[in-house]
Amino acid sequence: MLTRRSVFKPDGLKKLDFEYVPPRLPHREEYVERLVDFLRPIIERPGAISERVLITGRSGTGKTVTAKKTGEIMERIARNRGKKLIYAHVNCRATGSKFALVQRIIHQVAPALPVRGYGPIELLHALWDYLNEHDCFLLLTLDEIDYYIRTTGEDIVYELTRLTDEVKNVPQRINFIFISRNGGFLNVLSPSTLSKFRPQERFDFPPYNELQLRDILTERVKEAFNENCVSEEIIDFIARNTCKYGHGDARYAIQLLLAAGLIADRDGYPMVIPEHVREAQEKTDPRLRDEDIVVLNEHQKLLLLALARSLADRKEAVFLPIEEVEEAYNVVCEEYSKQPVGRVMLHALASELKAAGIIVIDSNFRLGLDGVKAEVMERFLENLLGKGR
Ligand SMILES: Nc1ncnc2c1ncn2[C@@H]1O[C@H](COP(=O)(O)OP(=O)(O)OP(=O)(O)O)[C@@H](O)[C@H]1O
Ligand SMILES: [Mg+2]
Repeated sequence: MLTRRSVFKPDGLKKLDFEYVPPRLPHREEYVERLVDFLRPIIERPGAISERVLITGRSGTGKTVTAKKTGEIMERIARNRGKKLIYAHVNCRATGSKFALVQRIIHQVAPALPVRGYGPIELLHALWDYLNEHDCFLLLTLDEIDYYIRTTGEDIVYELTRLTDEVKNVPQRINFIFISRNGGFLNVLSPSTLSKFRPQERFDFPPYNELQLRDILTERVKEAFNENCVSEEIIDFIARNTCKYGHGDARYAIQLLLAAGLIADRDGYPMVIPEHVREAQEKTDPRLRDEDIVVLNEHQKLLLLALARSLADRKEAVFLPIEEVEEAYNVVCEEYSKQPVGRVMLHALASELKAAGIIVIDSNFRLGLDGVKAEVMERFLENLLGKGR
């Protein structure tokens, strides 16, 4: 059998996934160290205090990956000292309700705990009991917490932090890393939540500059690509374009690298050439965050695909009536052999997509796509959903 050579290493695609935490984080190592230093008392003086830290910074500045790396290191330090520390990372964007949020936390910390039939507050208490019984400490990252507070309200933050604040003379077991694009959400918290929230330390991550992006890309290329498949010139090209069009967003840089590699493979090239990067740029939009789309449920994705297709057909339209999108949605469902949901449910799905900041809805409940080219969104979803029938 003829096997075609790929520019990627066998597990290279995994190394370009947004979930992947690379061994080194160029230009964020110092932040990791500072975070570990700040959080170290959790291990050295276990239970003395519930630590809270807030990380802010615009999209693609490495907030999520830095928190995960910090969690890895903290777990390792604890293990070496014979202490039990669990790191849990919950993206609040992917959790539509209070219950879903708590469920996700429990799932990561104590998968054996039964969650059905309990309310969120009961579950939080069960979590607390679990940590106590196992003499375990938790470092919990609530990622994109601003999003959660905007859409679901603040009370779960209040409850979570109250859990640790109200108990006196027993060890504090839950520590927090909060992540948000900016600190604006602090202004909408009520004084009672704010007093509990009180991050003792705050880190603001600046966007990457061209040289920094170059270092990040160089490391990733070594991990993901076969030797001599991506030249320094290509890395410079991507870094420069990311600064120019992507606001120094490392996610965009890695998306471009991945897309360019896939195009090289598609065309049977032994290496990535500048034209592949240019084509990748055509197909990639810095405002499309793949992780936002990946976490959507199936019918949200199908509806979004229907909207993207309709808008790609109707290039002059800013908004389309939901009836029109519904027709396209029914066609999409047929293509993917899915039972379409009814009108009421479809409205709910559209509202959820709006709350997630992915689509816009005008006062007549017409749907639109603001930031991203419809065709780019369409292609992305088709890749995600597979080819259909
Ligand atoms: N210093 C770095 N070294 C290596 N990879 C990095 C670095 N910073 C960011 N990345 C990579 O860039 C992508 C985006 O980073 P990350 O998800 O941490 O951004 P973010 O600040 O959380 O963005 P958002 O606000 O959109 O969630 C990820 O694939 C991440 O692995
Ligand atoms: Mg993030």
